[in-house]
Amino acid sequence: MNPKFKRTLVTAALPYANGPVHIGHLAGCYLPSDIYVRYLRSIGHDVKFVCGSDEHGVPITIKAKKENTTPQAVVDKYHKIMGDSFKEFGISFDIYSRTSSKTHHQTASNMFKVMYEKGGFTEQVTEQYYDEAAKQFLADRYIVGTCPNCANPNAYGDQCEKCGSTLNATDLINPKSALSGNKPVLKQTKNWFLPLDKLQPQIKEYLEKHQDWKPNVYGQCKSWLDSGDGLQPRAMTRDLDWGIPVPVEGAEGKVLYVWFDAPIGYISATKELLPNNWEDYWKKDDSRVIHFIGKDNIVFHCIIFPATLMVHGGFNLPDNVPANEFLNLEGDKISTSRNWAVWLHEYLLEFKDKQDVLRYTLCANAPESKDNDFTWKDFQTKNNSELVSIFGNFINRTLVLTHKYYEGKVPTASSYTKEDLLVLEELAKAPDKISKAVEQFKFREALSEWISVARLGNKYLAETEPWKLIKTDEERVKTIMNVALQISCNLAILSEPFLPFTSEKLFKMLNLHPLKWLSAKQTSNVPQGHLINKDELLFSKIEDSDVQVQLDKLQKSKMENEQNKPLEPIKTETSFDDFSKMDIRTATILEAELVPKTDKLLKLILDTGVDKRTVVSGIAQYYKPQNIIGQKVCLLANLAPRKIKGIESQGMILMAENQKGELCFVSPIVNDFENGSSVK
Ligand code: 2FM
Ligand code: ZN
Repeated sequence: MNPKFKRTLVTAALPYANGPVHIGHLAGCYLPSDIYVRYLRSIGHDVKFVCGSDEHGVPITIKAKKENTTPQAVVDKYHKIMGDSFKEFGISFDIYSRTSSKTHHQTASNMFKVMYEKGGFTEQVTEQYYDEAAKQFLADRYIVGTCPNCANPNAYGDQCEKCGSTLNATDLINPKSALSGNKPVLKQTKNWFLPLDKLQPQIKEYLEKHQDWKPNVYGQCKSWLDSGDGLQPRAMTRDLDWGIPVPVEGAEGKVLYVWFDAPIGYISATKELLPNNWEDYWKKDDSRVIHFIGKDNIVFHCIIFPATLMVHGGFNLPDNVPANEFLNLEGDKISTSRNWAVWLHEYLLEFKDKQDVLRYTLCANAPESKDNDFTWKDFQTKNNSELVSIFGNFINRTLVLTHKYYEGKVPTASSYTKEDLLVLEELAKAPDKISKAVEQFKFREALSEWISVARLGNKYLAETEPWKLIKTDEERVKTIMNVALQISCNLAILSEPFLPFTSEKLFKMLNLHPLKWLSAKQTSNVPQGHLINKDELLFSKIEDSDVQVQLDKLQKSKMENEQNKPLEPIKTETSFDDFSKMDIRTATILEAELVPKTDKLLKLILDTGVDKRTVVSGIAQYYKPQNIIGQKVCLLANLAPRKIKGIESQGMILMAENQKGELCFVSPIVNDFENGSSVK
């Protein structure tokens, strides 16, 4: 870290208060910022960590409409849920504020006024869609119409979710207001714009000084600056009735743009936290501000907010913006609306006291330089093969043996072998290695250095085998156990930023007050003769069945989503000749049983009128064998036989599949219609 900085303000993106927090949020922003802050606290740096709920903007009003309630009720509800989740996961904000607070309204309003009085905005009249029945201008998300690119009839005024293209509301074919369903009209309206075009040289100079930023961040900023016509003026006020009123004459009925007020929320939160000295963190030369965010927020934090601060004056510009990319879930984009997510409040109920397991997995897989994937299988492996087998196993052996051989009293290390000294030397190097990675925002690397220390300890015990030596060389075992206890203690120190709950437990087990980072450069933190406490299990195995429950939950979401999918279009034309090649017959199911070791397949014996034959069919999720005996079906009888799970299947039963992916028999409705009748 640049030694010029004496204090740091770390901010984490203010999440919209319109839904609970999921693992994508945690991995993208809140976990890395928390690790960073915990590390800075541990090295004794003066750091403050602020966050809060973003309670303005269109997403909140849309949620309120959906839930048939008011925006205020929505933000009150989610502010609490989100704040609780963060706390439960050990995200150690010094303050979790909200943008509906009085301090924030005043701060944002004043900043706008100062900028306005300096002539920092340009006024522009533009044409916006207006709903005459609802008597209001429509935000882009409130306009629905047909996408000009893919003909999706449900595209929004800013984006088509089907083909992914970015749209202007005026691009939509046949636009309709989502409020009244009426066709909106274009109406002129005046708004105040931040002249990013004029500010471009200053912004460019600022960004060029920060070429050390993460490549994904710097690259995105550069492409904004270099794109076509460069930066364009951006409206900082909106025609909306939810937000902070624009504090100038002639702006009645307008509010500040949510992306104008939200980053100012960092300033308001600092004011609330430190009413007397908040300015130290924002204005002094030896202070720096670091914004942790997800990649969709880069332009707002690296261009628009700095431009706001430039125009206003008096504030330090963000020193770094270590944005992460996105985390996917089981290969698919996390989506709130499709319920394709792992929600933190649900995880807490289903994996009680396992916050650190998720913290570990998400950090090990953090989307630091590219999008990454979270899978439940990997979660299980990281827990079972790393936290349980390496770290947990080492700590458990060390503590159990100390109790067994010395009744919990730390033995004296009388003389070190070369091997011991090498291990201790390696141990003393760990804090610097981890520091280096953390200070460069490389948290995955930092965590991997940390687990290497546990690996070192595990290997040391496996190689020295004190449980065997105890019979022949008691003195040697004392030294080995002393070394193992020093490793355990340093692991407790070094794990604090990543696994705070575990670190606390481990210090308790060692009967020590938590120690700070610098102590981990020493290898004699546990004094000889010190009495340690009883061993507790730090991590327990995650079973296949636990993983399956989660996968089933996701599968359910997937099926529910299918329901909303539009019907598949009719396939391309075929000929009658091709159809006539298929010999489809009516038949009756005579016998049915589940194919062993499967949960989807039934083995059926059919009477086709012509013969009796075996067919294997993937319908076990929809029909119980005992309920379908005597069921009339249609069978594609001349399909080439094939082996399924070792059984030869002679044909295929015709099924109808609905949008949820559910299957049902296609069957002649006259129940005594003869078997063997042709379907034509
Ligand atoms: O993307 C979001 O969830 C925004 N609410 C982030 C705002 S960050 C900052 F500007 F407050
Ligand atoms: Zn489209």
